[in-house]
Amino acid sequence: MSQREVQLESITAEALAALEQAKDAAAVEAVRVLYLGRQGKLTEQFSAMKDPGLASEEKGKLGKQLNAAKQRLEEALAARRTNLSGSAPAKSSGIDATLPGYPPSIGRSHPISQVIDRILNNFRAQGFSVVQGPEIEVERNNFDALNIPPDHPSREGFDTFYMADHGKRTGYLLRSHTSPVQIRFMDTHKPPLRIVVPGRVYRPDAVDATHCFQFHQVEGLAVCPGLTFGDLKGTLIAWARGMFGEKARLRFRPHYFPFTEPSAEADLSCIFCDGKGCRVCGQKGWLEILGCGMVHPEVFKAVNYLPGTTGFAFGMGVERIAMLLHGIEDIRYFYENDARFLEQFPGGIR
Ligand code: DAH
Repeated sequence: MSQREVQLESITAEALAALEQAKDAAAVEAVRVLYLGRQGKLTEQFSAMKDPGLASEEKGKLGKQLNAAKQRLEEALAARRTNLSGSAPAKSSGIDATLPGYPPSIGRSHPISQVIDRILNNFRAQGFSVVQGPEIEVERNNFDALNIPPDHPSREGFDTFYMADHGKRTGYLLRSHTSPVQIRFMDTHKPPLRIVVPGRVYRPDAVDATHCFQFHQVEGLAVCPGLTFGDLKGTLIAWARGMFGEKARLRFRPHYFPFTEPSAEADLSCIFCDGKGCRVCGQKGWLEILGCGMVHPEVFKAVNYLPGTTGFAFGMGVERIAMLLHGIEDIRYFYENDARFLEQFPGGIR
């Protein structure tokens, strides 16, 4: 049995048991609301049907199971109601002990955390370890050691938050990407290595539907003798299939990043139209999802690795992937802490 089936079984069993205990019409109704109400535990299971990673035959199977569970519970509710309608109402003592209590509200991890977990799990499956670094960085890690020249536009005050003390720069900044953790890790570890790095990053962008001054990235780095661009592609394709389903394809377009050479941007075949062209992909059939490349020799030099060292790196924006996965059109929903939005992501209790 799949994890979903087990969960469905246990919810159904729990509901039937609760129904056994229900001693009057109000209690039966409370059971109905708890499981079949608008935010009922069984009702919530139906949201799994929207998972784009679900193959259509799996979807059909899941739909049948969900409907069967719902029908079974509805019949049991009706039977219990008929059964109780004969018995006299409980005598009042001033306190109605039969009133349903408030169902406890169960916390869950944020949709961004859920997507980060999914991204990381799909890299863990390929032997990557998860590593983290600080959000306050020094210029050497965020820029210099990554071969980003002193006059690069990303260093400008309007692209990076610098920390100042009475108007004077302190040398500290809020990291503008997760790439400095590559440097931190290589400073303290020898190859071979394979890491992924989730974390928050900061850029002084005006807030709109697709931008925020703070967002999340996942960085990746693998260093090992003989690694090629082919290894990079294979790793990312295997990851994309785990993440978005077996039909996922990636397309690599040449690009420029100072810290990789050659560099590429990878596009994912649109998960909504399978690459045929739709509104989400702007009729292109492809969605841009990450940057990657072979680590630049200057970067290895900065961390005192031997000449000739080989490795690949990649970096992706989590919000963008979360928006694609769930069809969310405005990044601001993630940060408003509105329970009506957050409750729509019932998966993933950390
Ligand atoms: N640091 C880049 C950014 O924030 C993303 C990136 C691109 C990371 C290519 C990489 C890479 O490691 O190889 O836009």
